[in-house]
Amino acid sequence: MTTPTDAQRMEKIVSLCKRRGFIFQSSEIYGGLNGLWDYGPLGVELKRNLKNYWWRVMVHERDDVVGMDGSILMNRAVWKASGHEDTFSDPMVDCRVCKARLRADQMIEKKGVRQCPNCGSKDLTESRPFNLMFKTYVGATEDESSITYLRPETAQSIFVQFKNVLEVSRKKLPFGIAQIGKAFRNEINPRNFTFRSREFEQMELEYFCRAEEGMRLLEYWKEQRLKFYENIGIPRDTLHVKTVSDEERAFYSTGTYDIEYDFPFGRQELEGVAYRTDYDLSQHQKASGKSLEYFDEETKQRFIPHVVEPSAGVDRTVLALICEAYSEDEAPDEKGKMETRLVLRFHPRIAPIKCAVFPLLKNKEQLVAKAKEIVDLLRPHMNVFYDESGAIGRRYRRQDEIGTPFGATVDFETLGEKDASLRDTVTLRDRDSMKQERVAIQDLAAILRARIA
Ligand code: GLY
Repeated sequence: MTTPTDAQRMEKIVSLCKRRGFIFQSSEIYGGLNGLWDYGPLGVELKRNLKNYWWRVMVHERDDVVGMDGSILMNRAVWKASGHEDTFSDPMVDCRVCKARLRADQMIEKKGVRQCPNCGSKDLTESRPFNLMFKTYVGATEDESSITYLRPETAQSIFVQFKNVLEVSRKKLPFGIAQIGKAFRNEINPRNFTFRSREFEQMELEYFCRAEEGMRLLEYWKEQRLKFYENIGIPRDTLHVKTVSDEERAFYSTGTYDIEYDFPFGRQELEGVAYRTDYDLSQHQKASGKSLEYFDEETKQRFIPHVVEPSAGVDRTVLALICEAYSEDEAPDEKGKMETRLVLRFHPRIAPIKCAVFPLLKNKEQLVAKAKEIVDLLRPHMNVFYDESGAIGRRYRRQDEIGTPFGATVDFETLGEKDASLRDTVTLRDRDSMKQERVAIQDLAAILRARIA
């Protein structure tokens, strides 16, 4: 087998995503819409598993974090106070020859002269800021008074609801508010498949603390987040922690790490862990005139908490999971001849389908009935898939390609026809090793639950 180049590997991944129903181009039958994507039947399961695991680890398994779910449209005043209306922009350059609008940092430079990456022209405009927020109008009147924006980050609804959540949850510092939701950025140049999309989902935690705890908690959350990626099957050695320099960092932050992953198209950010100080709450307190202070009952002090924010991209992480899982190895076909096997080695925890159930033959009523019984047995516990069509080797291969970690096959031994001691047992096949073990049907749910937990 020859090793594919990174570009070929990426092409194969994009094609697999469409062929097997992970990711489709949005509005495809109309020619699509740049930077927008739809998740198909398997993609939506993968994405949900990721979000559910994040929620479990960041909210349910902690005493110091509660969740919320904010609206996408908010009062325009939020975006004025947060600084987004004035400063949430990327530097944009126009090519006067091919008319492309380009991000200034995506220009190519030859002998110190900037060139258009599309046509090579040097006839470029000066760079100017392009605000990335999507503007819209609320209500029936389209004028200045009805303008607002699709939120470019979920974080702001957490800040503006800080006081309400604090009061109802009765938490003491340090504590966090978590949210998963859609955000929108009108990217000048969306690219790299779903990596830079105009509509995307974020998983954000705003972890409020005292000023003196900020830098320690920045380190703490960076480590927690690295562990998270390892626990979903993205190994530590494929991740890189970049300390964001003073020049690149948002002006309100006193420390930011980017957690980056080696995608086939290069090293790119999955998550930012930023110490945002008390900037956001102070801005909203000033602009709204409402107190966003915390009252410390022990010291009787009132102050605006600081905040550390781990902010992860759902779609980017889904893409990293697919890229990391994608592999090709060799396996024997029905006649024992070695062939290339395409396999997505998802961690069982995030795999879209946990177990496929197969009757060895579809024309044997007893085998089919038993396999359907097993499906009913497993269904309350996990996402399962029943497949009776085609040779069993082909059926295994189809599941390998979508990353199903386990396959349970009902054969004649299950019916006790050859050996009574094997009655009501099935073979349980492991996707990665392709090894099979014999397990009792009554133990199957417990065995699988332990492996996918
Ligand atoms: N809230 C941080 C970000 O959206 O990048």
